[in-house]
Amino acid sequence: MYTSLKKVIEKTSEDIRSKGLWKTEREIQSPQGAEIIVNGKRVINFCANNYLGMANNPAVVEAAKQALDTYGYGLSSVRFICGTQEQHRKLERTLASFVKMDDVILYSSCFDANAGLFETLLGEEDAIISDELNHASIIDGVRLCKAQRYRYLHHDMADLEAKLKESQAQRIRLIVTDGVFSMDGEVAKLKEICDLADTYGTVVMVDDSHATGVLGAHGHGSLEETGTEGRVDIITSTFGKAFGGASGGFTAARQEIVDLLRQRSRPYLFSNSLAPMIVGTTQYILDHADTLDGARKRLHKHTLTFRTAMNAAGFATRGESHPIVPIMLGDAKIAATMAADILAEGIYVIGFWYPVVPQGKARIRVQISAAHTDEHVQKAINAFTKIGKKHGII
Ligand SMILES: Cc1ncc(COP(=O)(O)O)c(C=O)c1O
Repeated sequence: MYTSLKKVIEKTSEDIRSKGLWKTEREIQSPQGAEIIVNGKRVINFCANNYLGMANNPAVVEAAKQALDTYGYGLSSVRFICGTQEQHRKLERTLASFVKMDDVILYSSCFDANAGLFETLLGEEDAIISDELNHASIIDGVRLCKAQRYRYLHHDMADLEAKLKESQAQRIRLIVTDGVFSMDGEVAKLKEICDLADTYGTVVMVDDSHATGVLGAHGHGSLEETGTEGRVDIITSTFGKAFGGASGGFTAARQEIVDLLRQRSRPYLFSNSLAPMIVGTTQYILDHADTLDGARKRLHKHTLTFRTAMNAAGFATRGESHPIVPIMLGDAKIAATMAADILAEGIYVIGFWYPVVPQGKARIRVQISAAHTDEHVQKAINAFTKIGKKHGII
């Protein structure tokens, strides 16, 4: 019986290989950080979502050990059976006040938060209006929901408005967007989106995974950055990036939304509780959120230095001020070869090409961290300049 499945798998695998899209994972022999050991060689890491340098911060590691000692390793349960510790509710309340929402519900990941959101709230008489570049977890969450689907052109407010007009017959309409687009480092036009939502009487949901802890004067995210706090109805986000980088996610929303999610959201009901150590460590990070201002300032200073130097050198970048800095190269082979050459210079970056990004828009995505030093950033600029010249890009 298995022979037929094996044939199908081999055909699909060959298809992926023939397009040059087969991914190989490089093994890291060190904790995550600004400098890591890759294949036995020390390199400077410019491809992690470790925005605030929390992933291997000694105080964070210590907080994790303490949480382990106090609350144990595992819970062996989902939340509603015997998997809710006092610290889960405490973290939910702390997060709710951090993102200025009524309440928060924790998930094992933001992927799960997005997977469990839409089908809980919406039915076939409703509509979801989604930016075409939204994250895969939003796309999958939307697929699970029976609501009518509308996709608007990325960042295109005229097209969003057209879709709002088209969907006027639907009972509830939910505009869905990433707060920051992960492949482009662009912040969503939340002010314009909220204005359109007001005009057309729709609800707004933002996935703030790349903005929580990163954007806004206090790190509250893309809503704080764009002055739209209080205008968005639902936020989802992750602890897997700025807030420690381990795992875990959440949905923050109005009280009745969170209450219903606790009753009906399938990844919450049917998947294990967020591990005690992650809950305790995230609580520690949030309790010290006001001490993160220095890290956030360093992050943005490095980002400005890098973006300015790269643009001056003649590279085409995307986005304006986010620490995700895509270096646009167009051709997949150039992106792959340049990333390998830059790694040989001791700078770890990754090329992205179709289908992860649109056809012909291959790029190297650089991600800056507060853990980087001025010297790290300069070395990255030097390596890009040297390899960019070698390949005739600049
Ligand atoms: C915009 C966005 N949403 C959701 C996720 C998924 O987050 P998690 O790793 O917590 O599942 C990611 C991670 O890559 C992301 O970039």
